[in-house]
Amino acid sequence: MVSTGQSSSLREALAESAHSATGQQGTAAGGKTGAAATSKPAAGREKGKPADAKFVEFIDVEKTYGNFHAVRRLNLSIGRGEFLTFLGPSGSGKTTTLNMLAGFERPSQGVITLDGKSVDRLPPYDRNIGMVFQNYALFPHMSVADNVAFPLSVRKVSKADIGPRVTRALEMVRLERFKDRKPTQLSGGQQQRVALARALVYQPSLVLMDEPLGALDKKLREHMQIELKQIHEMLGVTIVYVTHDQSEALTMSDRVAIFENGAIVQIGTPDGLYNEPATAFVASFIGENNALDGIVERVDGDQCLVTLPTGLRTTAMAIGDIRPGAPVQLAVRPERIAGGGDHSDNRFLATVDGRIYHGDHQRLLARLPSGQVLTVKISPDATMATGEAIDLGWRTADCRAFPAGVAPDGITANTGSVS
Ligand SMILES: Nc1ncnc2c1ncn2[C@@H]1O[C@H](COP(=O)(O)OP(=O)(O)OP(=O)(O)O)[C@@H](O)[C@H]1O
Ligand SMILES: [Mg+2]
Repeated sequence: MVSTGQSSSLREALAESAHSATGQQGTAAGGKTGAAATSKPAAGREKGKPADAKFVEFIDVEKTYGNFHAVRRLNLSIGRGEFLTFLGPSGSGKTTTLNMLAGFERPSQGVITLDGKSVDRLPPYDRNIGMVFQNYALFPHMSVADNVAFPLSVRKVSKADIGPRVTRALEMVRLERFKDRKPTQLSGGQQQRVALARALVYQPSLVLMDEPLGALDKKLREHMQIELKQIHEMLGVTIVYVTHDQSEALTMSDRVAIFENGAIVQIGTPDGLYNEPATAFVASFIGENNALDGIVERVDGDQCLVTLPTGLRTTAMAIGDIRPGAPVQLAVRPERIAGGGDHSDNRFLATVDGRIYHGDHQRLLARLPSGQVLTVKISPDATMATGEAIDLGWRTADCRAFPAGVAPDGITANTGSVS
């Protein structure tokens, strides 16, 4: 668990809130599924149980606008208590998918179930889902406390219960001191915390967040990522989160679904996606990669031999439909390229083009005889002069060969991170 300076008091507030959720199951109107999600703190999350693995299900869901397919034949199960992130480029269908789950859009085809029941005829306010948007969407004329109380008042929670629950929700996001202020008297990060407290106050079973940290600066965004993760772990609430930011997706999620052109092209754990991308698009979208073009010379089981321009050759893992003579795109992570090459299956002589200092590491730019420049992650203490010859290498297992092809929307694999 990540810790911050405030973590112990935050944890106490959250534990208290989780306990109170158990004791007040019946108080929130429409809360029949909400109590279950918050009835145990994180330790009690019952992952892996068949019923819980399908807490949310999309079955053959499609969304079309005229003849444009915004979402294509989506099949997806979300486990109870899971933190699932939708990651993908602009226009890939993330918000549309979230909106269908929230009830703001209806699928053109297919079924969405929540806790085993179709939500087709349920309006958004009856789905017991909390929403947090990028632009906070707070009521400007209401105080912070009244904003947070709003979902409880519309659910006809008794006045006597509202006060303590608002206080607890504000404690959870450390804003109890600001309860009488108006949203305009708060910073962006504080406003987003109010939006979060408002989404959690009625103990929803599911919280949907669409780029909730997109408007915050980098430092605040990283701080809020830690807080959100802590709140998720303490409450055990199911979160479906949308972002374009791959580092945010990797640090926060149990699983990440990669969207491309209205479809999920791969779904998996952050390390699974990082280490075993299934397509060149995923390899280029998650983390940093060196992309090299080549032609398959031979295929041998799950490995292949690839010829690079100017005749260099490398062995690689064959991913997907790889056939002799076909063009492929190779992907090698900068941290998987070793200097010295002693433990490598593939060794190349390169020339140092430059070094970029990053504090905890350096990025070496190394030019292959083919002219291609590779980025290599090296120790911060390494001293190599521009023009120096260097021996580089990588293992077969660290080089992945994908069928070549330009990804839709003009996105191609590259040597930099895309986010
Ligand atoms: N009401 C609508 N009518 C027509 N097309 C729409 C409508 N809503 C969304 N689209 C289209 O559907 C596609 C998916 O949109 P969506 O908002 O889901 O993308 P997104 O992945 O959330 O993108 P971003 O990261 O930019 O928010 C886009 O091409 C968009 O233009
Ligand atoms: Mg969107």
